[in-house]
Amino acid sequence: MAIIRKLQAVKTEQDHLLGIQDLSFSKVTSILDQAKTFITLNKSASKKTDILRGKTQINLFFEPSTRTQSSFELAGKRLGADVMSMNIVNSAIKKGETLIDTAMTLNAMHPDIIVIRHQDSGAPNLLSQKVNCSVINAGDGSREHPTQALLDALTIINRKGKVEGLKIAICGDILHSRVARSNIYLMNMLGAKINVVGPKTLLPHSIERLDVKAFTDMKKGLDNCDIVMMLRLQNERMHGSFLPSPREYYEYFGLTPDKLKMAKKNALIMHPGPMNRGVEIDTNLADDINRSVIREQVELGVAVRMACLKIFCKKT
Ligand code: NCD
Repeated sequence: MAIIRKLQAVKTEQDHLLGIQDLSFSKVTSILDQAKTFITLNKSASKKTDILRGKTQINLFFEPSTRTQSSFELAGKRLGADVMSMNIVNSAIKKGETLIDTAMTLNAMHPDIIVIRHQDSGAPNLLSQKVNCSVINAGDGSREHPTQALLDALTIINRKGKVEGLKIAICGDILHSRVARSNIYLMNMLGAKINVVGPKTLLPHSIERLDVKAFTDMKKGLDNCDIVMMLRLQNERMHGSFLPSPREYYEYFGLTPDKLKMAKKNALIMHPGPMNRGVEIDTNLADDINRSVIREQVELGVAVRMACLKIFCKKT
């Protein structure tokens, strides 16, 4: 008890990135503006800066990740931080250690920022209450994935000049997707009109309360859209039967040239990855350099994560 009290007493207030819902419009603008400067840096011959020299970044990924983990690692290194990615498979977590015990152990090593991905919604918030450094949420359960939404916004701005006034269709497994949730909050904040499209079983009850229009017919949902954002079926979060078969799903909800015709001629195709070709998206559309900005999303993801690390990293 005494130790806990002492730990709480020394805990300082930090600025965390836990979800889009906690961000103000001006914070979002400053992250996106900062990220734009890093797009240029990331294309130059010498990508390294010393903005976070002397700072320690710990990546704590409890769920599989390719894009997010590698881009957070590169982002930290390009800013000059010392980056340590914990190998969860070989850690004491596998021996039954709780998230809080792991957090206290890491806290004792004086990190300046912890990036966490966890299967439980709210885990980054809990961690942020226990450690003395800043915490960035790299995806928690089906709740939020703020840096994905920020990189999606940056990609749209890079291509279309703005988000305001655009019609965005977010399609697929809305129920289990943290990407969908963060994007709904962010794109609404930036003034877009949002359609969510998916089978009834994968649309949350009362989703309209989040200021979106819901559709169970792809062609209607894609009508006149500027952006078509496809999502993977989050099978790992499905307990029970939500769908007849992947083949039938593709037939009704997979993005095909025929369905894409309903969107604007210059509509962009987006996907956070990983993609399941032939399930939620036609393989040729995914690679169509005139329509798909999927690789650009990955590229700009590094810039956005650099901006977030710079802005949220512990200052003292
Ligand atoms: C997403 C995630 O992990 O939530 N992927 C990502 O971060 N690039 C989407 C997904 O897993 O389908």
